[in-house]
Amino acid sequence: MKKIENNSLSIKNVGEEVELYGFVSKKRNLGGLIFIDLRDRSGIVQLVIRPEDNAYTIAEELRNEYVIKVIGTVSERESKNDKLATGEIEIIVKELTLLNTSLEVPFTISDDTTALEDTRLKYRYLDLRRNSLQNNLKIRHKITMATRNYLDSIGFIEVETPVLCKSTPEGARDYLVPSRVNEGKFYALPQSPQIFKQLLMVGGLEKYFQIAKCFRDEDLRADRQPEFTQIDIEASYVDENDVMTIGEGLVAHIFKEIKNIDIELPLRRMPYKEAMDTYGSDKPDLRFEMPIMDITEIFNNTSLSFIKDVIDNGGIVNCLVAKGCASKYSRKELDKLTEYVKTYKASGLAYLKVEEELTGSIAKGLNDKEINSLKDKLNLSKDDLVLIICGKYNIVKVSLGALRCKLGRDLDLIKKGDYKLLWVTDFPTFEYSEEEGRYVSCHHPFTAPKDSDVDKLIDDKANCYSKAYDIVINGYEAGGGSIRIHNQEVQSKVFEALGLSDEEIREKFGFFVDALKYGTPPHGGMAFGLDRLVMLLTETDNIRDVIAFPKTASASCLMSEAPNTVSESQLKELHIKLDK
Ligand code: AMO
Repeated sequence: MKKIENNSLSIKNVGEEVELYGFVSKKRNLGGLIFIDLRDRSGIVQLVIRPEDNAYTIAEELRNEYVIKVIGTVSERESKNDKLATGEIEIIVKELTLLNTSLEVPFTISDDTTALEDTRLKYRYLDLRRNSLQNNLKIRHKITMATRNYLDSIGFIEVETPVLCKSTPEGARDYLVPSRVNEGKFYALPQSPQIFKQLLMVGGLEKYFQIAKCFRDEDLRADRQPEFTQIDIEASYVDENDVMTIGEGLVAHIFKEIKNIDIELPLRRMPYKEAMDTYGSDKPDLRFEMPIMDITEIFNNTSLSFIKDVIDNGGIVNCLVAKGCASKYSRKELDKLTEYVKTYKASGLAYLKVEEELTGSIAKGLNDKEINSLKDKLNLSKDDLVLIICGKYNIVKVSLGALRCKLGRDLDLIKKGDYKLLWVTDFPTFEYSEEEGRYVSCHHPFTAPKDSDVDKLIDDKANCYSKAYDIVINGYEAGGGSIRIHNQEVQSKVFEALGLSDEEIREKFGFFVDALKYGTPPHGGMAFGLDRLVMLLTETDNIRDVIAFPKTASASCLMSEAPNTVSESQLKELHIKLDK
């Protein structure tokens, strides 16, 4: 007789003797019979112990989460439970061994638990016993297996790269690790294996991948963790098309393996500019329509002074049309939407409702021509709601983009289980950092500019675009990458454009820039956020649900209480004095 998983048992096994192990999930005593729900990794099966059985005295002592071993016979149930995979059978127990007892657990271990997330994170090892978390981790495992199999099948090899690295600038803040043997010096934990994967191409490895831990000390959100995992990919002799083909092939393979969903390839490609213009986001959620409409022209001669001022100062007027929703939004609801867009720096939200005539906050300031142009351009019909924001391009687009996503959720425009994937391409090479008062890289300084934009690197930074691409799934940035610069001259120009002096380049990237001089093959790659892929495939919007031991929003682990203080002697060894 061999050890069997609960959920492998069914009506077919009736009469067989089986050996099972697991936790006591629930115990009931009904008319002398003891019923136990036995939980193992695969699921739950019902055990029955009769008063005349030898096991009865032990069964009487059992409490929730005790660990037991059972030998018994599979039997057909009288009253079946169609909510349970093993609901047609039960195990008549012959032998019962108590393997371990348990303290009373701080919350009931069930999928519909009402325990607070903080409690569940403190006792994560108990939370992990819940079916939904186990299922998420199983899917995560299947995704990494599918990844390894797929990339291996197309000639990629997995190579590990260091975790104790040199701190390099750009990107998020580094996590630093003090060196004991090199006084005053620090390692940085990798934000990604970016430099190493490029060096593997210099090293002639040609096709590399790694399921890599990355560390970023940045503000956390529902889809961000300070340590997370990437499926990191790099290849030599490739162009943008090649990398996107590899990336989408991998994603399609994963969707097929995990969800049996056929993703139609090639995926749609949308230039960054179109994504921002139409969806107000570089990661548009295409599961619903509601494009952002540009209505600036209609207001060119407006008598509404606040709009006129905006247009005179080079601003724009854009709107969203919520079809058939005018009657759903009261004044109070619209005030709430206004507060919402203000968090994205919009100065306000004007609205129009299509009733017998146009009503709403700016209706009185519109002449007939403007009303007719709006009706025409926006294809308005009765009960439509028009939500308008005017101001600077970026603020208008981003705030309407966020409002669009909110309306998508609030109005239930998103079909459950729907997946919409696309590539966003042609990203700007630089973005202006108000904080630093200079242009910084949108991605990293090794991203190749479009061939046609190389001449603009120094004098026309705002109009330089890169050979960079992001893969977007349901409004999440699931991955991204670029073709890298392999030409010395172009690399020097990019450093110059970023305002880095020769000294700074030497200090920050010296070894890397040197390496690129030794016959670097043209190369490029990308990285998927593994945690985000798992989130999408398990349909959760909380990244902590797909990580065995996650951190909270303040980057701490409630279970182990990391980060913690360390002893004076540890600090002394590291030559560190705390400024208390
Ligand atoms: P990038 O910074 O875009 O690119 O990261 C790639 C993907 O990693 C995921 N991701 C995160 N997931 C969870 N928590 C975080 N804090 C977090 N930050 C990023 C996202 C993102 O798309 N070296 C480049 C890739 C390349 O150019 O090849 C890089 O790291 O899904």
